Parts: sequence; structure tokens; C-alpha cells
Amino acid sequence: MSTEEEILARMKPGCICKGIKLHRILQAIKDGAESFEEVAEMTGIGDGSCNSKRCRQKVAQLLQKKEEP
Ligand code: FES
Repeated sequence: MSTEEEILARMKPGCICKGIKLHRILQAIKDGAESFEEVAEMTGIGDGSCNSKRCRQKVAQLLQKKEEP
């Protein structure tokens, strides 16, 4: 990730309900999380007012992107 991407990830929301930024989710995936549940456990996302409807999809996309060569 470039410095610019890193800065953007620190500003962009990851889980809007919990106020957790995208870079926390990316770090959890980098640290080995392989499912939404693992990311949620490592970051605290997912139990906000939308009941993970928004962040679950985002995490799924990021996990899929990681698996692509
Ligand atoms: S955006 Fe994560 S729980 Fe709503």
C-alpha cells in the first residue's frame, strides 16, 4: 500500500456504526483474519446499529481481493 493509500485508509470509514476506520480492517486482514467474524473480533466492528449490513460487505470484498493473485 502506497503512502497515499495508507493516508486515505486512515480517513475512510470501515465500520460507520462503530466509527472504526478502514485501515484497522486492512490491518486485521494483513495480520491474518480470514473471515468477517475474525475481522470483527480483532477490530470491534459489526455490532453497530446496522447489524453489520454495511461493513460485512466491505470486509467480504477486501477478503476476496486478498485472495486474488
Ligand atoms: S457499519 Fe459496521 S455495524 Fe454498521
